Amino acid sequence: MGLSDHRKSRFGLGAAVLAGCVGLMSLAGSAQAADKVDFATQIKPLLKESCVKCHSLDNPRKQAAAGLRLDDKAAALKGGKHAGKAIVPGKSEESLAYTLLKGPVTVDGKKIDAMPKNPKRGEAFKPLTDAQITLIKNWIDQGANWSE
Ligand code: HEC
Repeated sequence: MGLSDHRKSRFGLGAAVLAGCVGLMSLAGSAQAADKVDFATQIKPLLKESCVKCHSLDNPRKQAAAGLRLDDKAAALKGGKHAGKAIVPGKSEESLAYTLLKGPVTVDGKKIDAMPKNPKRGEAFKPLTDAQITLIKNWIDQGANWSE
């Protein structure tokens, strides 16, 4: 084996190790990062369909349920009765707009009903689909970017 062959094989090994690392990194990356959620096409229609009839001034009572509007960026980020807790950008687990989708949540010793709340008293809570709940979670974790 001449000197040049030796160099070549070391280069070959280095390249293989490097390729392996890049491969592993991209695998780890795809396991962690969810697809980028688009507000206008994925979240806005969902809010409109399931939440806005109560959480806007179109509510028959002319006031948004729990003081929370979900049809307006500034108002939504400001939050409702529990100010600042509806949507906490980057932190889905602290955001009531996500945690309430899985069941009731107790804040300051008071239970808040699961969302979307059933308009008819006594009727069972009908949760969003798992896929919709995951969309909201990822959207909040990605910074709750509200650009229409
Ligand atoms: C039928 C009307 C109705 C619908 C539909 C509805 N909500 Fe609500 N929402 C309420 C009422 C009423 C409350 C107050 C409940 C309580 O305090 O127990 C509330 C409270 C909340 C709160 C807590 C606000 C705070 O600061 O206390 C959040 C967040 C929320 N809703 C998000 C949603 C989301 C997200 C959806 C859609 C997936 C939704 N709601 C659909 C009526 C509704």
